Amino acid sequence: MDQFLNDLPKAELHLHLEGSLEPELMFALAERNGIKLSYSSVDQLRQAYDFENLQEFLDLYYQGAAVLQTEQDFYDLTWAYIERCKAENILHIEPFFDPQTHTERGIPFITVLNGISRALTDAEVKYGISSGLIMCFLRHLSEAEAFATLEQAEPYLDKIIGIGLDSSEKGHPPAKFERVFAKAREMGLLAVAHAGEEGPAQNVTDAVDILKVDRIDHGVRAIDDPELIKRLATEKIALTVCPLSNTRLKVFDDMSQHNILKMLEQGVKVTVNSDDPAYFGGYLTANFIALEKGLGMTKEQAVQLARNSFEYSFAKPERKLELL
Ligand code: HPA
Ligand code: ZN
Repeated sequence: MDQFLNDLPKAELHLHLEGSLEPELMFALAERNGIKLSYSSVDQLRQAYDFENLQEFLDLYYQGAAVLQTEQDFYDLTWAYIERCKAENILHIEPFFDPQTHTERGIPFITVLNGISRALTDAEVKYGISSGLIMCFLRHLSEAEAFATLEQAEPYLDKIIGIGLDSSEKGHPPAKFERVFAKAREMGLLAVAHAGEEGPAQNVTDAVDILKVDRIDHGVRAIDDPELIKRLATEKIALTVCPLSNTRLKVFDDMSQHNILKMLEQGVKVTVNSDDPAYFGGYLTANFIALEKGLGMTKEQAVQLARNSFEYSFAKPERKLELL
C-alpha cells in the first residue's frame, strides 16, 4: 500500500514553501549567509518541533525563515520541495509563500518571488510538474500591511495565481481582510483562506461569504455545523485538509479521531496535503499513509482523494484534462 500511495498521481494544494525548509537546509543556509542559529545541531532543532498548538509552531516557523536571504536561497528551498514532488509522483502543485515574513526583515519582494518562480519554471521544464503560486497574507498583521503587499505584487501578476490567508486564526477572523480580498479578486486573482483549523466553523462560512474564496484551507471545524457541511458539498467548495499538521498541532488528539474520511463520505470535496512537511514529520505520501494506518483509508478512498486534488486545483482546463 505504501508504494501504491507513493506512485498514485497526485496534486498538492496546501503547502507553505517556508514550511518545507528542512533543518539540514536551514543549517546550510545559515552557514552560507553567516547567520547564527539558536540551536547547536539539526537533531536539537528537530527536538524542538514538539508543538501544543498553532502559535507554538508559528513562532519557530517564522524564526526558521530568517535564514532565507538571497534569490538563490528561495530557489534552493523551492527546488528541494520539487525534488520531493518528483519522488512522490506529485504532478501539479499550488504552493503558498508568505512575502511579509521576508519583506518585514528587509528582503525585497522581488528577491523572494524571483527565486521561487524560477524554480517553478524549472519544475515544469525539467519534470513536467505544473504549478500555480499563491501569495498569503499574514492575518496577525494589519489590513493596511496586506494592502501594501498586494500593491508590491501588482507588477508580477503573471507569476501569481491567487491569494491566501494564513498565520494565527484566533483573534483574526476573515472579515478583517474583506476589502483586501475584494481588491485582489478585482485584479483577477483567485482566493483561498485558512479557516476552521483552530477557529470555529463560522470562520469557514465567513471565508466563503465575506472573502468569497474559491477553496478553504483546513476547514476541519466545519464538521460542527451540519448545514455548512451540506453546503460545502452541494456548492463543491473544496477543503485542503492536512492530517499530519492537524495531529501535530493538536487539532485532533490522534489520527483515529480525524474527520477527513467522514467528510468525504458526506460528499465534501476534501483533498490531502502536507502543510509544513519539514515541521510536521512528513510530505504528501506520508499524509496518505497516516490516513491508511490511523483511519483505515481504503485504496478507493485514496484514489478519490487524489482525484479531488486534480479536480479542485486551479490548473488550466486543458492541463486538468491531462491530470484527471
Ligand atoms: N495555519 C496557519 N498558518 C500557517 C500554517 C497553518 O497550518 N502553516 C503555515 N502558516
Ligand atoms: Zn497551512
